[in-house]
Amino acid sequence: MTKMMRLKKDVKEKRELVNIVIDRFLPRKDEYPKIIHKAMRYTLFAGGKRIRPYLTITTYQLFGHMDKKILPVAAAIELIHTYSLIHDDLPDIDDDDLRRGKSANHVEFGEDIALLAGDALIVEAFRLMLQLDAKPKFKAQMISEFAEITGSKGLIAGQVVDILSEGKKVSAETLDYIHMNKTAKLICMAIRFGAIMSEAGEDDVDRVTEFGETLGLLFQIVDDILDVEGITKMMGKKSGKDVKVGKATYPQVYGLDKAKEKRDELMLKAQNIISYYGPKAEFLKKICIYIATREF
Ligand code: IPE
Ligand code: IPE
Ligand code: MG
Ligand code: MG
Ligand code: MG
Repeated sequence: MTKMMRLKKDVKEKRELVNIVIDRFLPRKDEYPKIIHKAMRYTLFAGGKRIRPYLTITTYQLFGHMDKKILPVAAAIELIHTYSLIHDDLPDIDDDDLRRGKSANHVEFGEDIALLAGDALIVEAFRLMLQLDAKPKFKAQMISEFAEITGSKGLIAGQVVDILSEGKKVSAETLDYIHMNKTAKLICMAIRFGAIMSEAGEDDVDRVTEFGETLGLLFQIVDDILDVEGITKMMGKKSGKDVKVGKATYPQVYGLDKAKEKRDELMLKAQNIISYYGPKAEFLKKICIYIATREF
């Protein structure tokens, strides 16, 4: 088996573990009022890559832990990510009707229910974090960080500036602000929580934080490039949307070639940072290539 095949197998195995935790945690789809629970589960189980949970679990394992205590953290992050996708697709935000290869949540259930399904997923994510099996000090730290990163100075901030920048010419600084906030911070948090749960030392947490920021920015640049070059059928979401509405993206600000150069630079930078851990970090090193070369 090649290293990439080993990585893909690991991604699949961890995806299944996270899916079980999410499935057991959420209200059943026939619980009253049925429509909201159906809607929450609909986008969650439509087939996401589960990259963020993967990064959480794999970083936890990097520091020598193999137990399942990490799974609820990983699952909580995926709940937040999925809420952000449901709301991102709403007509008032990106107005997309295809997500994870299926009709967007609001197309299937209506805008009212999609809005509420997103809300409910945020609350469920915090409910899950509160059940964590971690030392009170770490638990409090993580829940507070979770709120900050997902709130109006984090993910929501990024989404706000993303919308406000539509059709405008933005500076490189604004572009990075959008990308860091709407995408990179959550990805970075996923990685940090793996380290914090493993009670890693400050130097290690700092190192994986830098890795996470780099990987997070890389992730959104690739997402931007895929919007230009990707195939809708492969991606399970429509390509060509960003250009159409004049979104602030790397290809828009730098041009496609330069955006690809940035992608390659960030991939090497991320690999470099994580290589500090040697062969133990094989999967995390490989995931940089996986993220940079992904087609969906
Ligand atoms: C899409 O995220 C939204 C971004 C932040 C770029 P993913 O590419 O991780 O989407 P799923 O979870 O696999 O559907
Ligand atoms: C995703 O940005 C950011 C969040 C959902 C928080 P995009 O709007 O580029 O994501 P896609 O391309 O619709 O998945
Ligand atoms: Mg968007
Ligand atoms: Mg979008
Ligand atoms: Mg996009």
